[in-house]
Amino acid sequence: LTLQERTLPAVADLIKSGRARRIVVMTGAGISTAAGIPDFRSPDTGLYANLAALNLPEPEAVFDLTFFRQNPRPFYVLARELYPGARYRPTISHVFLALLARKGLLHALFTQNIDCLERAGGVPGDRIVEAHGSFASQRCVDCKVLFDEGKMRGFVERGEVPRADDGVCGGLVKPDIVFFGEPLPRAFFDRMSAVKEADLVLVMGTSLQVHPFAGLPDMVNEDIPRVLFNLERVGSFGTQADDVMVLGDCDGGVRRLADELGWRDELEKTWRE
Ligand code: OAD
Repeated sequence: LTLQERTLPAVADLIKSGRARRIVVMTGAGISTAAGIPDFRSPDTGLYANLAALNLPEPEAVFDLTFFRQNPRPFYVLARELYPGARYRPTISHVFLALLARKGLLHALFTQNIDCLERAGGVPGDRIVEAHGSFASQRCVDCKVLFDEGKMRGFVERGEVPRADDGVCGGLVKPDIVFFGEPLPRAFFDRMSAVKEADLVLVMGTSLQVHPFAGLPDMVNEDIPRVLFNLERVGSFGTQADDVMVLGDCDGGVRRLADELGWRDELEKTWRE
């Protein structure tokens, strides 16, 4: 065992002593709820519980490619809410990840989020694997021609559905976020080996319901500690000897870890800046 005990102070010791230097982090919507962005599956506040007004066959249809081709409107209603911009600020959890990177400890960050808040919080782009894509680019679902970002923002703000305007195809435009029925970006598979290289794994704010991402924590070598910062126990957490579960809101858990590390002031100061 690498951990003295299954506690946050033991995790902090691992980092402070220099034994954890290649930390791999896996995140989901729960790290952004404190920024005001709803997650997907929380019973009352999650997006899927609040899509009734859109008359979907099932909530996940909003991110389903076949459904989108028939009816893109529900997605664009939602896109207006989720579109990155000055509206949302990074949380303490995002800034903690930026601190890990600044200290040279962040080996890779696999995120399912499409809000770009990791980057906004200061995590360098080359550390981030956007497993479900992002709103950073968009293209025609048929001919794949790229669509202008400035125009896209206009359509999203007006709640209108954009169509390719290169004069050839005129197909529907969709941001490069991964819908159900689409493969994950190549970078996800290319960078997956980083999970095997980890000497500490942090999983934050995800229900681990959507594969293949949900399989990442199970690829971690058995003797490597895995720490879960989440409201609830998820996935296979609790089955390995070095699993640590920090149940509660992730900003609170991260602040406690920062206290143990002696990084708390730096964390709060960086977050306020
Ligand atoms: P979910 O909504 O499925 O799960 C969010 C998890 O975070 C839940 O376990 C919550 O209990 C927890 N949570 C919420 N707020 C929290 C907080 N403040 N602190 C700690 N935990 C908190 O979101 P994801 O797991 O990210 O896919 O969902 C995975 C994928 O499903 C998304 O990427 C999206 C969706 O369909 C696509 O859009 C392709």
